[in-house]
Amino acid sequence: MQLSPRTVIRCRGFPRLSVFEMEKPKDEKPSTAEDKRDSGAEDETPNSSSEATELEDSSVGKIRKYLAQKLGLHDSDNETDGQGAHMLTELSLDGIAEYIKSSGCRKIITMAGAGISTSAGIPDFRSPKSGLYHNLEKYNLPHPQAIFELDFFMENPEPFFVLAKQLMPIGFKPTPSHYFIRLLWEKGLLLRHYTQNVDTLERVAGIPGDVLVEAHGTFHTGHCLQCKASYEFEWMKEKILADEIPGCEKCKDGIVKPDIVFFGETLPDRFHTLIDNDFKQADLLIIMGSSLVVQPFASLVDMVPPNCPRLLINKEKVGMQDRIMRFLGLKQGLMFDPTDTNTGRDVAWLGECDTGCQLLADKLGWGEEMKVLIEKEQKNIEVEKSKEG
Ligand code: OAD
Repeated sequence: MQLSPRTVIRCRGFPRLSVFEMEKPKDEKPSTAEDKRDSGAEDETPNSSSEATELEDSSVGKIRKYLAQKLGLHDSDNETDGQGAHMLTELSLDGIAEYIKSSGCRKIITMAGAGISTSAGIPDFRSPKSGLYHNLEKYNLPHPQAIFELDFFMENPEPFFVLAKQLMPIGFKPTPSHYFIRLLWEKGLLLRHYTQNVDTLERVAGIPGDVLVEAHGTFHTGHCLQCKASYEFEWMKEKILADEIPGCEKCKDGIVKPDIVFFGETLPDRFHTLIDNDFKQADLLIIMGSSLVVQPFASLVDMVPPNCPRLLINKEKVGMQDRIMRFLGLKQGLMFDPTDTNTGRDVAWLGECDTGCQLLADKLGWGEEMKVLIEKEQKNIEVEKSKEG
């Protein structure tokens, strides 16, 4: 059986999975920005009482109960915690802004992907035409993701280093989305920012390391794959810019790979150490600029409490509950239905991340402050750059 992103079943606790990508489920046709803002995906979860009773008596109901019990998943019929009903007055950006302004929302977790950095000039991975994986023909790879696969890298590291030259965090400026996250931190509302990005733009934007989890690692350090000797970015940068494959100067045998997480590698210890405690305390989850197809990162959306509102700011709807989970009545994945004010808690704002973040800041009364912050910080970066140059 081929699993889809949302049929990944997370057992109690979070296994130390290595990074892997799941196929998009066939029934998950992502909506795009052309769709109406905040429009709802059809939710076929049986929820009328007669349907529920029928299901209860059926073998499907029994399977659902068994899976929910054994795997620690949310069983929709056993929800006694009032899914989001009292958290959001409406399932929209306005509802989210009102909630953030309330005293009940103190701990926000943000989760980000490549979409928050595209306006800085760094391509994402999977967007048609512009995404990195659609532009790798020249590297002659067996398949696009091979460029980030350890086995392939061991055999042929050259394509990765050619690409790394373009992706290294040199000269890119953080985007308004990064500064929105910084503003959440300045307001004392950011519990943690989890990013899949290796461009380090969160750090450049002034988000401190202790509230940051770089889930897919960073370019800033590297290690020899043979003797594990560690190297700094400046050393690797020099080699990579000179089109050299960085070879270890200590053991003279291994290749030095930047500490970005490849498919087949496990995520950094910091990710595993923090997720359990962080996600169970979250009052709000904001997901920005990710296709949510890479595991285990994508499954984090299911780790917040069942009544915690979740806001997606993205060009398309992603991470939605798939048909099997919906059929079984198990709550995994995002469920966008703006009319479901009774039990709904998920909001999709579709469009550019920067626009969505500025709009949310405006609704929170921080709009001007955010614009001033961006202008000031970007000017500082220019000044620093001119000093270096
Ligand atoms: P993807 O390229 O898979 O997804 C980017 C998402 O952001 C897509 O849904 C885009 O539609 C959306 N998007 C792009 N630009 C946007 C913008 N300006 N405003 C709003 N939305 C925008 O990137 P990730 O989800 O980050 O891992 O990919 C996850 C992982 O896959 C990466 O960390 C990397 C890759 O393989 C490893 O290499 C291990």
